[in-house]
Amino acid sequence: MHIEYINKNKDRFLNELFEMLRIPSISADKAFSADVRKTAEFVKTKLIEAGADNVVLEETAGNPIVYGEKIIDNTLPTVLVYGHYDVQPSVPDELWTTPPFEPTIRDGKIYARGSCDDKGQMYMHVKAFEAMMNTGTLSCNVKFMIEGEEEVGSTNLEIYVKSHHEKLKADVILISDTGMIANDIPSIDVGLRGLSYVEVEVTGPNRDLHSGVYGGAVANPINILCSMIASMHDKNRHITIPGFYDDVNILSEDDRKSLNSAPFNLENYKKDLDIEEVMGENGYTTLERTGIRPTFEVNGIWGGYIGEGAKTVLPSKAYAKISMRLIPNQKSEKITKMFSDYFISIAPKGVKVKVTPHHGGEAAITPTDSVAFKAASKAIETTYGKSPIPTFGGGSIPIVALFEKELGIKTVLMGFGLDSDAIHSPNEHYGLFNFYKGIETIPYFYKYYSEMNK
Ligand code: BES
Ligand code: MN
Ligand code: MN
Repeated sequence: MHIEYINKNKDRFLNELFEMLRIPSISADKAFSADVRKTAEFVKTKLIEAGADNVVLEETAGNPIVYGEKIIDNTLPTVLVYGHYDVQPSVPDELWTTPPFEPTIRDGKIYARGSCDDKGQMYMHVKAFEAMMNTGTLSCNVKFMIEGEEEVGSTNLEIYVKSHHEKLKADVILISDTGMIANDIPSIDVGLRGLSYVEVEVTGPNRDLHSGVYGGAVANPINILCSMIASMHDKNRHITIPGFYDDVNILSEDDRKSLNSAPFNLENYKKDLDIEEVMGENGYTTLERTGIRPTFEVNGIWGGYIGEGAKTVLPSKAYAKISMRLIPNQKSEKITKMFSDYFISIAPKGVKVKVTPHHGGEAAITPTDSVAFKAASKAIETTYGKSPIPTFGGGSIPIVALFEKELGIKTVLMGFGLDSDAIHSPNEHYGLFNFYKGIETIPYFYKYYSEMNK
């Protein structure tokens, strides 16, 4: 059985993951493109070693996509595994207890950028595949598609998917890139939010000015940007962009009830974040605010003097990076345009505003009544001893909606991370428990999925 094989090879699996975690595959920064490629090569080699066929780096205008497959029998169902080998930037590095690309184990957890999102989770699939190959238990055909641009919007994967319908034919897409409520409360994410990501630039005077000589008489772009951003929420913390909620589906009372029945402890949530009170759209619970409501968040804001000491300056420019999380039916492109038109319209005459869209993506809801979902539930029940609860994780994986639109294939989000894993933050980590539990659980998915398809 696969469990014995995994136990025997445990240490090697972890050493291999460590090797991959040491490569800083940061997709957002071109300076790391050689490392990004090295990581793709690593995944390619490991897929070949595990027994996959036709393993190639599919070249794109950006980072390569690793493709590999094992087609054992055309009458069996085919599972398409998607994951990403790129990671978020590690900054601010000084807040890491141990360096982001020197994986270290503390308290049973692997600390490194990408340990959970998504190298650790993606690699579970490579090792689960290896275990099935070596124990003669692979019961489905499998295709791997591991990309290197998830954290920057998957633009090139989108092009690839659109032109490879035949090659990517499958019955289900299996992804481990989300989380669970807790290790003793297994859950499966069934909803991903869409995203609209923009950068804004506000320009005041044509050059930096003395803030005494000109201050008070000329629009300060940082002051203006702050008040424009502040005006994007009203007193109920509703977003003020006209038409923003037009396409938002109102959830039925029953659906809201079931969403709110998921285990959640507000006191622990606040304690974990060291905040006295939560804050969000009036009339909605925390689970609703993060799961099924759209949001408007500033991700970064800068301008003027931020060096040592004080410099009296009225800056010429101010910038912000803004993301809007969207829910099913809201269209990312439409929202981006809506925001852009509105943001420009509310700017006072003393400044010019430029909006640059970054990337976007649509929300996705995954079905809970499908064979694949049932197989995933049963697999988790087998290894966790409890059947998983459906949840709405709040994050985005834009390619999921695209897979459905382009390939007509639905996804199962069998994620093994935890909210507390600090993905995208300093000290990202992934439990050894989660890593090994994932490798154990995945083969059961294949087993049950093929059995249920008979
Ligand atoms: N793995 C995350 C998405 C995620 C995390 C979904 C936790 C649900 C729960 C993914 O790598 C990610 O970070 N996606 C980005 C979007 C992307 C377009 C940059 C996100 O959600 O911010
Ligand atoms: Mn991810
Ligand atoms: Mn991510």
